Amino acid sequence: MTKLGIIGAMEEEVETLLGLMEEKRESERAGSRFFDGTLEGLPVTVVQCGVGKVNAALCTQILCDCFGVTHLVNTGIAGSLCADLDIGDLVVSQDSMYHDVDAVAFGYPMGQVPGMDVISFPADDALIGYAFAAAEAVNPGHTKIGRVASGDQFVASKEVKQRIIDLTKGLCTEMEGAAIAQTAYRNKLPFVILRAISDKADDSAEMDYPSFERIAAHRCAAVTQGLARQLKEAVEGQ
Ligand code: ADE
Repeated sequence: MTKLGIIGAMEEEVETLLGLMEEKRESERAGSRFFDGTLEGLPVTVVQCGVGKVNAALCTQILCDCFGVTHLVNTGIAGSLCADLDIGDLVVSQDSMYHDVDAVAFGYPMGQVPGMDVISFPADDALIGYAFAAAEAVNPGHTKIGRVASGDQFVASKEVKQRIIDLTKGLCTEMEGAAIAQTAYRNKLPFVILRAISDKADDSAEMDYPSFERIAAHRCAAVTQGLARQLKEAVEGQ
């Protein structure tokens, strides 16, 4: 059975998704609330994971072990790393990598986790397609597909932003995506990250973030709903 695990970062976004879900059942694990049910007729489990890589990874593993998800999507907001991506625009991950993993002393390139055979975790082509189509339907002409750069850092200075761009060539930066991607990779599950830009990850970031959070949350929820609809149609067409 196809089942989509939806990992949201923001309370407002998860609340919006819960409002769209049917047959909801709530349970708690590791201090997070998990909601099992259907979205657009597709079996889903939704969780608000909390901020940062550890929270994201542990909630993703719980989705795999306890809720039987077969596909994963991570949604939320991100700081833009690209002049062409404005506040409100959307990013669908081609892949994602860490900008803060440093095992250079052991001969690994900056960003690569020792023992992992890749430096970036590729998203699933079919999910990329569904997410892109859903994003275009919500905000036409304002979606890019590319790399998401993740780390345990809210990026709010030009210097840090430039370092992350130079290292990762990412389109946007946030604090969970690559940890979810790494967990999906190790569990051999298809995933995609979908992010709405809330700030420019520079000196203006702290000001822009709160004012845009609400709009971004609703936008992400609407795109996730579209993605669920397309995944369901694809499964039914098989
Ligand atoms: N999420 C939204 N904006 C961000 C930023 N500037 N840095 C890290 N995570 C973010």
